[in-house]
Formats: sequence, C-alpha cells, structure tokens
Amino acid sequence: MAEQQSNTASDSSRLIVDDAFEVAPVNDRLFGSFVEHLGRCVYDGIYEPSHPEADEDGFRKDVIELVRELGATTIRYPGGNFVSGYRWEDGVGPKESRPRRLDLAWHSTETNQFGLHEMSQWLDKVGGNELMEAVNLGTRGLEEALDLLEYANVPSGTKLSDERRANGKENPFGIKMWCLGNEMDGPWQTGHKSAEDYGTLAASVAAGMRMIDPDVELVVCGSSSHMMDTFGKWEETVLEKAYDSVDFISCHAYYHPEFQADGTRDMASFLASGVDMDGFIKDVAAAIDATKARLKSDHNVFISFDEWNVWYIDEEPSKNPEGIGNWPVAPRLLEDSYTAADAVVFGDLMITLLKNADRVHAASLAQLVNVIAPIMTEPGGPAWRQTTFYPFSMTARYAKNGTVLEPKLTSNTYATAKYGEVPVVNSVAVRGADGSVTIFVVNRSLELSNDFEIQVPDDGNFTEATAQTLHEEDLLARNTLENQDRVILHTNDSVTFSADDAIVHVTLPPVSWTAVHVR
Ligand code: AHR
Repeated sequence: MAEQQSNTASDSSRLIVDDAFEVAPVNDRLFGSFVEHLGRCVYDGIYEPSHPEADEDGFRKDVIELVRELGATTIRYPGGNFVSGYRWEDGVGPKESRPRRLDLAWHSTETNQFGLHEMSQWLDKVGGNELMEAVNLGTRGLEEALDLLEYANVPSGTKLSDERRANGKENPFGIKMWCLGNEMDGPWQTGHKSAEDYGTLAASVAAGMRMIDPDVELVVCGSSSHMMDTFGKWEETVLEKAYDSVDFISCHAYYHPEFQADGTRDMASFLASGVDMDGFIKDVAAAIDATKARLKSDHNVFISFDEWNVWYIDEEPSKNPEGIGNWPVAPRLLEDSYTAADAVVFGDLMITLLKNADRVHAASLAQLVNVIAPIMTEPGGPAWRQTTFYPFSMTARYAKNGTVLEPKLTSNTYATAKYGEVPVVNSVAVRGADGSVTIFVVNRSLELSNDFEIQVPDDGNFTEATAQTLHEEDLLARNTLENQDRVILHTNDSVTFSADDAIVHVTLPPVSWTAVHVR
C-alpha cells in the first residue's frame, strides 16, 4: 500500500465499541471555555456597546448566538495571568466611577467597564452558563478572596453582600467553582510563588472560603505545562499541603507545530499533541493517587484542564505591547488564525479529554472570543467561526449528557521526533442519552487515508450512520474576515453501515477529524 500515490494510498484501523467498557459519564463541564480580560476577548469581543448588534447592556448579540452554537458550558473568568493583578472591586458599582488600571500581565489598560455583574448578566443571556471565578493569589491573598466570596455568595445582611444588592444583584451569584489563583508555578506570573508557599496559601484560602460557603468547589493550581521544570514536584508539594481542602487540580497545555532545523514545521509531532496531553493527564492522576494514598485520605481530587488549545505562543500576535507610556486598551493580542491542521489537532485534544473523563471532570478551552479563540470579531463588523469552532461544537453537541466508552482501538503507528512512535488514529466513542453512539476520530497521518472500521454494539436498534469530516488538501487553509467559511465540516459520503453485523466503515482522509453518528 505504502508505495501507491499519496491520494490513493491508505492505511486501516479498527475500533470496538462495547457498553461493557464504560469510562465515565460525560461531565457537562468538559465543554467549558475561558474569558480573560486580555486583548479583545472582553472589550470588542463579547462586549462592544457601540456595535450595531449590541443589546441594551452592550453585549454583541451575534457573538452570543455563536457561543450558543459552540455549546460552551462553564466559563472561567477573569483570568488567566490577568487575575494575578486584578482588584475585583474595581469592576463593580457605577461604571463612571470605576478606575482605569495598569494590567501588568498583558501590558494594557484595564478600563473596568466590564466586571463580575456584567459577566453574570452575559452568561444568563447566553443560556444560564456556569461561572467559574478565579481569585487573585498573585498580588493579593486570603482577605481579598474572602471578600469576593462574601460579595458573590452571601445572601444579605453584611457590608459586602449588601453592596452587591445595592449594585443591582439582589440574589447571590451562587458561584460554585473557584480557581485558587492562576499558574502560580510560572515565573511570568505576577506574584509567582514556590510550591511550598503556594500550597500553604491555597490551603488556608480554601479553608477560609469553606467557612463562608461549604459548598464551593475549589481548583488548586497544578503546573502551567507538562514541560515545566518543576512539573511533578509542584503537584506533589501542593497536593501534600492542600489535598483535603480542594476538589480539583488544574492542568494547562498549549500546542503548536515547532520549527525544525531545516526551517519547516514539525507537523508529525504536532499532529500527535494528544499523546502528550494524555500523558500529562495520566501523570497528574498518578500524583493525585500517590498523595491520596500517602495521606490515607477518603477524599477524591479530579483534574480541571482549565486551559487547553493550539497557541502559536512565541509568534508575533502574542507579543505584548512595550513602553512605560504605552498601555493600550484592548489591543489585538494572541489573535491566532487557525488552520485546518490546527483544527484536527484541536479535535484530537477533545478526544483525549473525553477518553480521560473519569479523571478530568472539567475543562476550559482557552479562550472564547478573539484571543486564541474559536470565534473572531471585527469592531463594528462581523463575527465568524474559526476552523477550531467545528470540532468543539460537534463534540459538545453529540457528547453532552452521554457516557464515554473505552476505545478498544487497533491502529498502526508512525514516528515522531517529540513523542516517538504514536498511533496513527486516535478515537473515542460516546453513548448518547438518546441511545445513539458517536465516534470521534482523527487520522494523524500526513500522507495516508485510513479505512476505519467500527464495531458498534449490536443493539438491533441502529439503522444508519452519518459522518462529518474536517479535512482540507491545503493544511494551512483558514477562515478569515474576507473568507469566513473557507474551512467547514463536510458530509463524509464514504460511510457505510451494515445492520447485519453492526459494522461501520468510513474513510478518513489524511490529517482529518471526523464525527461518526450511529443511530
Ligand atoms: O490563555 C492565555 C494565557 O495562557 C493565560 O492568561 C495564562 O494563564 C496562560 O499562560
């Protein structure tokens, strides 16, 4: 096969889907996203009062529509690196008295015209999405975290809860999920800490927060990347100090195709990014288990993968403004324009999160609008879907409320410079609440299409299979302001279903992501 022309050459793989091998129910929070005060995510993104599509509160209705279509659930807010210098009080109360502040993380000016109340209003309009709030443990600490929780969750009768009511929110926000700071292991973080110092602080903030609201669910910072020198030791130290006080430990991971010595990008390794994410999750799960055993604890801690995406982190769009007199408002920052290949890797990362649904109970795509985002906007102009929008929306649509089934997958491997031999195909199956089965699959091969055979449960109920594929001959094809629908999903007509033996066949083009829906 290998010596045939690349457009006809093919490989094959096989998946067995069996209800006996259940991983876990799909947690709705796996489809979370992230809105940070960064670049044009908030300002000129979800909030643009002068836009023709803005509603009476200044929210862009076209963006709200796209967020609904995307299917994002929990929204992490307000950062990110931003939160480590944020004073939450600046963003509440009459807008005309809110201060303008330096945002050290992104070398920008924060106008504070958007804060907690606006975020909550916006989420209500999107469709009752859950707010996941981060507290500042960089420049601030226990007292300010407790103040924010009192302001947000205490019904009434105290200074801060009554201030909230005076500011127009009679009922508490009732925020359940809280991040105890952000990426505190990172030397770039304002107020960066050692694992010992952060673990001690996180444990005391957690204890204090629970004294106000015992129902909060707390996320302690894990490593900001699998590649950090401190990875592993950080988890061990922080969990040792805070294990029984928290519910989640975070993971963050961003991938991009790195340049090789010959100046080309290492696409083979990039396409295998899911392998690294999977290893990261397994490593953190091992750290959780080891701590639980050491402490003889009955308590369970899960993973909140609360930043993940493709991000061309070292490239031009991610360079901060510079200069003592140059602190722009909502500059164009981290505005990566995603390719078809990026979307395939992105789909693979979603497959990986689902495969680990027993350990990963929450995840946040970083971010939502304009900033490394599935949705782009122009000030005063249109909003459109990036390539990555499609795997997210399809996965959310078919996997929500379902149950992940362990993928029994047979696939050839290929060689990568970064991760060694890796499977060509990655896949996961979800049994939907309606009895359907959806299989998400990527073909990581740069050259070969793949004849993918799926043995689905022989319920006798299935009558048809349909498939949608994201694939472009031009791996670098992208959706732009000028050509917003250059990359979309296409119906994959190669799919066949044999009811006699409950077997699906579908051809996966090279570098492609596919959702096969059997009902
Ligand atoms: O999502 C962009 C940035 O990436 C976040 O602010 C930070 O937490 C991470 O380093």
